[in-house]
Amino acid sequence: MTDGAAQPVAADLLTWFASRTRDIPWRSETDSYRIWVCEVMAQQTRIQTVRDRLPDFLSAYPTLESLADSNQDDLLRAWEGLGYYARARNLRRAARKIVECGGTELPTEAADLKLLPGIGRYTAGAVASIAFGRPEPAVDGNARRVLSRLFDIERPTMAVMEDWARMLITQADTGLDGDRPSRAGLLNQALMDLGGEVCTPRSPSCELCPIESHCLAFERGTVAERPPRKQRKPLPHHDIAVAIIRQNGRLFIQRRPDDGLLGGLWEFPGGKVEPGESPEQAVVREVAEETGMQIRLMGALDSVDHAYSHFRITLYAFHAEIESSTTATETFSADQVVGSKRWILPEELDVYAFPTANRKLLVGLGSGATLGRPAL
Ligand code: ADE
Repeated sequence: MTDGAAQPVAADLLTWFASRTRDIPWRSETDSYRIWVCEVMAQQTRIQTVRDRLPDFLSAYPTLESLADSNQDDLLRAWEGLGYYARARNLRRAARKIVECGGTELPTEAADLKLLPGIGRYTAGAVASIAFGRPEPAVDGNARRVLSRLFDIERPTMAVMEDWARMLITQADTGLDGDRPSRAGLLNQALMDLGGEVCTPRSPSCELCPIESHCLAFERGTVAERPPRKQRKPLPHHDIAVAIIRQNGRLFIQRRPDDGLLGGLWEFPGGKVEPGESPEQAVVREVAEETGMQIRLMGALDSVDHAYSHFRITLYAFHAEIESSTTATETFSADQVVGSKRWILPEELDVYAFPTANRKLLVGLGSGATLGRPAL
């Protein structure tokens, strides 16, 4: 397709987009900080979840400065359940970086945005185009599907898709007064909405598509093959066993390393059940390895199943007491922080960010007060 032929595509897309009233929370935002947070939260997260969670997050962290000043534990608690926790840690790191360099706002150019932690080509393009009116592409999975069908691209690499998106942006901006913001933000979002609602992966509604007459894949009958499907492997499953260890009315929790899976979240100690092991054996072994405490199991809780993004788990949990310890447990038995391990009061469980499966366990148990009762 030539540049000339693409002109009406951009125009048709923008007309369609202008006629829509999709309830997306940040469509009315003009503040670059808020647009950035929305775009980050919306990655890997359903729009409905963003709608539900965004207001509380933005009232806890209304400005770039408030995010830069935040405490990571509180921030992760505000993000709990949204998954991909590196997003929250990186939001904070990026805000700190801007503020430490004396800034008060996000950079306006995609190339500068990409220098910040957690900002890749999509987020940089989305913020630059939507918040700052720059002529930058922002190609998410939905936009990629639309573009690969529209131009019938067999191998839709990100670089190729961005080139096609740039071409559409140029067309959308043709005739625009030089001082006016680019229409890229509108065009990018039109592509995303079209992919999310009309040009869907399995049964696209081509009859409702505002650009069907331009669509090469539709013309050639290749819609179902564009973009090529990745073979999704079934998610691996792990049995995990954890202990709810109680001492002097407090419970033991530990923080996961910042850089790994579910990084920075708190959890009950434990780990994977190895082949040939029972959950009971696994939890005693893991707790000894991780904490130096020999525990006595006092009773089992109901197990919990949970699917994370990359694996599924069955979580077995046990009430436990300390039998003996090679570490001086009393050194961190007060309520002060010692590294990444804490003894907390049951009512403090709400203050800490836990992986969803741990939280499910707590919900299943009822209130924190229930956990404070003597072991079974
Ligand atoms: N998904 C993520 N960001 C989006 C946006 N700005 N418009 C539509 N869908 C999105």
